[in-house]
Amino acid sequence: MSMLPGTPCAEEPMYHEEPMYGTMRLFSGRANMPLAQRISEYLKVPLDEAEIFEFPNENIFVRLKKSVRAQDVFLIQPTCSPVNRSIMELLIMIDTLKRASAGRITAVIPYYGYGRTDKKDQPRVPITARLIADMITVAGANRVLTVDLHAGQIQGFFSIPVDEMTAMPLLVRYFREKGIANPVIVAPDVGATKRARNFAQALDAPLAVIEKRRVENRPTARVLNLIGRVRGKNAIIVDDEIDTGGSLAGAFEILRKRGAQEIYACATHGVFSPPAVERLSALGFAEIVVTDTVLIPPEKQMPHLKVLSVAPLLGEVIRRIHTGESVGAMALA
Ligand code: R5P
Repeated sequence: MSMLPGTPCAEEPMYHEEPMYGTMRLFSGRANMPLAQRISEYLKVPLDEAEIFEFPNENIFVRLKKSVRAQDVFLIQPTCSPVNRSIMELLIMIDTLKRASAGRITAVIPYYGYGRTDKKDQPRVPITARLIADMITVAGANRVLTVDLHAGQIQGFFSIPVDEMTAMPLLVRYFREKGIANPVIVAPDVGATKRARNFAQALDAPLAVIEKRRVENRPTARVLNLIGRVRGKNAIIVDDEIDTGGSLAGAFEILRKRGAQEIYACATHGVFSPPAVERLSALGFAEIVVTDTVLIPPEKQMPHLKVLSVAPLLGEVIRRIHTGESVGAMALA
């Protein structure tokens, strides 16, 4: 039987056996260059150069220094402060890569800004977390890699694959190695209970939960109640992010009143919006532990702040996405 040229015959594999997306290329926006540098060191892949600047009219300009045609590009840009600029820069860089014919674009967004605006919980409000997901997709990202979304359901706002990693094992390991005696893990609000429960299980410690309610739309939090026993114990508060520090300050006060001894806090994202630094520095935390998903500039450094790096975690996931190895298997390792 004769076949038309180019028609696959039964013995011919239909898939591509060569790496499908070319060489790994790493780019970073300006939001967290030190983290991008650490990921690059982990992977032993240099960061690609891109010209990024703002015109006097605040329009962002991007130009890649080398061709990315048919290559496997990872663009690292958490959407942290200045949030709106970081988002716009991410979108413009994705568009640049797409128009430069990159083979595949993975947006590595270690911190997903606007993640807390994830539902219409009152009339006439936006779902900005969804809007951002749409914009990233329309700009041309093929995949997203992120860390500890405020709510896991945000993954479903994307119609492209999302790998959401968690920094919790990193934080658990840190506290396990510290060997804190008689610990109790504290969820600073009901929404943080599942995360704190997993943390407590991993450290074989009991759990306490603070019931907190926000007042209108103001970022001030009001602590209402504490469920669980903390007297005489060393408390570790576990959250996804520390923003203005209001939740932590409230948690600190109620834990002190209820007789907790040393009080630690940890979160994946150290956003530290004003007045977090003044507020938290004035309290007697034994230690506040966050990761480097968000850039922490010198003015946000404070006593007893410990920053762990997610670079090995993200570097390893990037390596696996590139080679097509399982990422899920990392959770089981
Ligand atoms: C809230 O739902 C989050 O899990 C954090 O508790 C919140 O982002 C912390 O914000 P702040 O530090 O401003 O209280």
